[in-house]
Amino acid sequence: MCGIVAYVGHQEAAPIIIKGLKRLEYRGYDSAGISLLNGGLHVYKKKGKVAELEALLDGESLSSKIGIGHTRWATHGEPNDTNAHPHRSASGNLTIIHNGIIENYAALKQELLKKGYTFTSETDTEVLINFIDDIRQHQQCSLGEAVRQALNAVVGAYAIVVMAEDNPGLLVAARKGSPLVVGVGNGEYFFASDATPIIEYTNEVIYLNDFEIAVVNDGRLVIKDTSDIEKTPYIQTINMELEAIEKGGFEHFMLKEIYEQPRSIGDCMRGRLNAAEGRLVLGGIREYSNKLTHAERILIVACGTSWHAGLVSEYFIEEFCRIPVEVEYASEFRYRNPVINEGDVVFAISQSGETADTLAAIESAKAKGAIIFGLCNVVGSSISRVSHEGAYTHAGPEIGVASTKAFTAQLTVMFMIALRIAHRKGTIAESKYHQMLVELENIPGKVEEALAVDNQIKEIAARYKEARNFLYLGRGYNFPVALEGALKLKEISYIHAEGYPAAEMKHGPIALIDEEMPVVFIATQDSSYDKIVSNIQEVKARKGKVIAIVTQGDTVIPAMVDHVIEVPATEEALMPLVTVIPLQLLSYHIAVMRNCNVDQPRNLAKSVTVE
Ligand code: F6R
Repeated sequence: MCGIVAYVGHQEAAPIIIKGLKRLEYRGYDSAGISLLNGGLHVYKKKGKVAELEALLDGESLSSKIGIGHTRWATHGEPNDTNAHPHRSASGNLTIIHNGIIENYAALKQELLKKGYTFTSETDTEVLINFIDDIRQHQQCSLGEAVRQALNAVVGAYAIVVMAEDNPGLLVAARKGSPLVVGVGNGEYFFASDATPIIEYTNEVIYLNDFEIAVVNDGRLVIKDTSDIEKTPYIQTINMELEAIEKGGFEHFMLKEIYEQPRSIGDCMRGRLNAAEGRLVLGGIREYSNKLTHAERILIVACGTSWHAGLVSEYFIEEFCRIPVEVEYASEFRYRNPVINEGDVVFAISQSGETADTLAAIESAKAKGAIIFGLCNVVGSSISRVSHEGAYTHAGPEIGVASTKAFTAQLTVMFMIALRIAHRKGTIAESKYHQMLVELENIPGKVEEALAVDNQIKEIAARYKEARNFLYLGRGYNFPVALEGALKLKEISYIHAEGYPAAEMKHGPIALIDEEMPVVFIATQDSSYDKIVSNIQEVKARKGKVIAIVTQGDTVIPAMVDHVIEVPATEEALMPLVTVIPLQLLSYHIAVMRNCNVDQPRNLAKSVTVE
């Protein structure tokens, strides 16, 4: 986790860094800090959000053309001023910002303690900067060389940027396992965990690869690897609108992102789908396309909301392609020695493309000969780069920590992939294939209609905002949606919620039901409609309060339940794209009414780059 930003050039560094840290706060927000060179190397850091750091800086003289900044999600040491980054070496010569974990820091610390070093924080990062400084002093070498030697002795993950008191034009940055982007401006350079702090100044970027070290010295950039071999930088022009990462009049990023879904789902189909011509093109799946079509089984690895998208995808692929699918939590998959055969196909689904467990699951599957298809939202992210092929979800930057538009984009892309395989294999009738394409094209309009229930949902939220528990129940395609609805509520409103297949209720959860218990049923008119009507009756018989998401025009369920939310009808397989919308809105409004920090819920971070 953690967000890092650094700048060197002809502009004032502090405002660029502070603004960049605010853009990266989604990555962590328990403390923030900045280091500047202004008549000496200064470090300012503070527990809390970037706004607390800004208050600390008020009135300080901050003029500096170079600086590094950090927003933290604690791994080593509790969130406090001392453990906040940047960290300074004991000599005072160097400061560092770090995203990642140095796993052998305890051994390195012992060595440094023996040499007389003392430490003020509990962090692995303070150990790293002293280790670098120690090498630099003893070998009288350049900072770049000291960083290189230090990193060769380090086990773990890192994206770091280091600055030195004795060189006002020098920044040394490196990555392994944590993302780092270099922005190339006109005589100036930017470093950040993703491109969002950079695009206001330049759209020319270099995504550093693992084991690369970038040194900017007096306006010149050189990239080498940790074996000291010089690399030719690959400068890419990125296409990201500033507007896409600002709130655009909404009170929270999450609400903006919920409302963006008609557009983001459309963006993810653009250029890929043309229902009138029966055309479905996925440009990122070419060389391995046949392997995918003829796969004997498919594995899907992911975490959290992306795992829920994987579950829905399992239903798509098994229904249309008749290929067996297994969906695994990446964190379990990576440690349980799963059976993978040469040529097995693995889909890794990840909004950020940086989730450590998903990356590790990919590496272990790849080592056993699997073909990896990455499904990421963040362009240039680590998962997209380690996958053999894949597809971007093109939902645009998702800033709210709770995933919303990335989920619907993941479903859209996986649906297109499933249809494409089925069409090639001949496991779907031509007429059904065309009907599905047409219905998929209609989905943005249906999501727009589903958003119209917002005011009604606010009333339901007001009624249940103090509930201590919620149950979410669905069947078939709507079962993963129940899981997703429960996760959304838990993570942003801190209300305990469980998602279950509705029929499983009788095997345990039914014991929880009393007149205090809100139960959300996703009960649209599909193949399990009659069954779910019975499940609703079972809850009502025990006096539970039922909130039902139903198909427009349903007259049966509304007569039985306490609250009804209508969504437009669509194909059963596409229902999750529509039914998840009211659940996102319900969790959002409850969280706002409980005064929770919707975009930055406690203890969470947007991309989980540690295991
Ligand atoms: C929930 C949420 C998390 C992520 C999970 C995986 O709203 O955001 O559960 O879905 O951490 O993240 P990615 O998709 O970036 O791999």
